[in-house]
Amino acid sequence: MAADDTGTIPTWHRDSTRENAMGPAHAPVWRHLIDLVPERDLTHAEVLDFGCNQGGFLRLLHAIRPFRFGLGVDIAAESVARAEALKGDLPLAYDLVSGLDAHAGRFDVAFSHEVVYLVPDIDAHARSVLAALRPGGVYYAVTGCHTGNRLWPLWREHIPATTNVRTQDRSLDDYAEAFRRAGFSVAMRRFGFDGFSPYDGPSPYYPTAADRMYYYAEAKTLFRLVRRD
Ligand SMILES: C[S@@+](CC[C@H](N)C(=O)[O-])C[C@H]1O[C@@H](n2cnc3c(N)ncnc32)[C@H](O)[C@@H]1O
Repeated sequence: MAADDTGTIPTWHRDSTRENAMGPAHAPVWRHLIDLVPERDLTHAEVLDFGCNQGGFLRLLHAIRPFRFGLGVDIAAESVARAEALKGDLPLAYDLVSGLDAHAGRFDVAFSHEVVYLVPDIDAHARSVLAALRPGGVYYAVTGCHTGNRLWPLWREHIPATTNVRTQDRSLDDYAEAFRRAGFSVAMRRFGFDGFSPYDGPSPYYPTAADRMYYYAEAKTLFRLVRRD
């Protein structure tokens, strides 16, 4: 199944058990991302999470670095509804959209974790996040899903077979250039997650134990993108 005419899908994973397991599985990686971000005091910040799924990243970020307001957006209707149900009294909102037109110049910091490789038009995405940031605002975009990842030939087949979104074949240079064209100052680093990776046998994503560590430590890349004007 692909996105319907309104651009929405029910969930990202076709299997709801896997959808529910994704947040807990990503939590150690999100913690590492938060540690890498030099902006430590977010007390007065408005924060965007693009491709938020069930909303766990913003809940974790708020627990570690409290912020004024956070918006998560995603095209997966049931996942966004779950994010809304789980937000409690936190200063969060979750929207079933991928467009950010209603939020021009609003955000101090934006994040996306493993989403940009699913966005069909990367130039439009880069322009839209740039416009949603205030001048000087920063977008942290993480992906290990690029053509330079030695596992990508497997993943580009496996992901569309098990999820409701198509993948896009793009290199790190394609991302860097798209963000630069949009008007960001572009910097990047290895994501370099060095925590323990749970091993539960060979899988379609990780045929070997070494593949798992390779992805988290080497293939995964963090872009730091600053809105210049
Ligand atoms: C691999 S999941 C990552 C979810 C979350 N960021 C995390 O770290 O667990 C990719 C997410 O991107 C969402 N997504 C895919 N294409 C999108 C688009 N064009 N706009 C917004 N969200 C999108 C999917 O629905 C899914 O929730």
